[in-house]
Amino acid sequence: MDQRGQRDRAYGVHMLDASTKPQVGVDRRGQRADDGEPTSTPPRAGEPALTAQSSIRAPSLAVRAVAPLAALLYPAIIWCGVRSSPIVLALSLGVPLLALAVGHHIAPADGFPRARRVAHLAVAAPPLFSLLGGWLDFQHALPFHGLTVWIAVWSAALVAVAIERPCPASPAAPSRHLAMAHGISAAVITLFAAAHVFNHLAGLFGGETHIAVMSVLRTIYRNALVEPVLLAVVAFQVATGTVLLWRKLTRANGWFDTLQTATGAYMLLFLLSHVSAALRARYLRGTDTNWAWLSGGELLTDPWSARLAPYYFLAVIAFGVHGACGLRKVALGHGASPVLGARLVALGAAVSTVVSALIFAGLVRA
Ligand code: HEM
Repeated sequence: MDQRGQRDRAYGVHMLDASTKPQVGVDRRGQRADDGEPTSTPPRAGEPALTAQSSIRAPSLAVRAVAPLAALLYPAIIWCGVRSSPIVLALSLGVPLLALAVGHHIAPADGFPRARRVAHLAVAAPPLFSLLGGWLDFQHALPFHGLTVWIAVWSAALVAVAIERPCPASPAAPSRHLAMAHGISAAVITLFAAAHVFNHLAGLFGGETHIAVMSVLRTIYRNALVEPVLLAVVAFQVATGTVLLWRKLTRANGWFDTLQTATGAYMLLFLLSHVSAALRARYLRGTDTNWAWLSGGELLTDPWSARLAPYYFLAVIAFGVHGACGLRKVALGHGASPVLGARLVALGAAVSTVVSALIFAGLVRA
């Protein structure tokens, strides 16, 4: 029996005729490529949302397992980078990039939602590794450290992906009100983040300039009224982002949607790790989280701090791309052409990459 026939039997359904032509504006997976919302006729009750095209290209186990496997090896790449050269450290960027490709390759209609979620979690390997290290490596209350949990989590993810059986896709309905609230709180965070990133760019001119800019900005965002609001908005962003991401993964399609969900996953874990690290340092250790704190560990050579190099570098890019993907959706909703939407995302990616590289240069030079 050929591959299509095997999947036909595995699902216990009759596939659509492979000669069925996709509708105009519908991509090769049978879903609309311009805004990611499913446009093909929704399945009737009891009818699985599978397409002829998806039946032909079920992702193999090797493809599904590569993201958790790469994530499992992520700390080893960082370790080798510290011991050998920054070029090897840069190879760690390959883990989220590979996971991004896998997350895109496994379409919702392929019927492997767990593998798709695991691939998205692997995109967020840098912030997850920092989060676990930050919370577990310097404590004595629990008898294990971040690396132990890391190995357990990714080994479990690998097994979970390996034993996953294909199931009919069941796309969740878009949550428009939640998405709008998420967009509004994103605008508040962007106000802060733009100033914050500008502050880090000032690090290019030395630590004193960075501290001078931060001192001015702190009078605003550390204001007794402003800071709790900012932190509450970040918490709201993480909570709404988690729900939106979970639902969107069941129906997102096309490169732009994958970029949005993957960078969203990264930002979720980044905000959890980053804000908790800043608050822990401030309130538990009484550290001034200024330039000295930021550049204290040797980013490229310190065995613990090296994890922060890919983490920070990708954070600014993920932030820029995620924001640009959101703007693209809004623009398309207001009648902008798909070409303009694509240019917005390309611009967001290009600008954030340059800005991130400049911030990184300042941090490494310190
Ligand atoms: C290279 C990238 C980044 C670096 C090096 C960095 C570094 C820092 C530092 C040093 C602090 C403490 C600030 C202070 O004590 O006044 C901080 C706080 C914070 N950062 Fe970042 N950050 C980066 C990117 C981002 C991004 C992209 C976001 C959001 C999208 C973000 C959100 C925050 C938030 C919400 C706080 C807590 C503010 C507060 O003190 O209440 N950061 N970050």
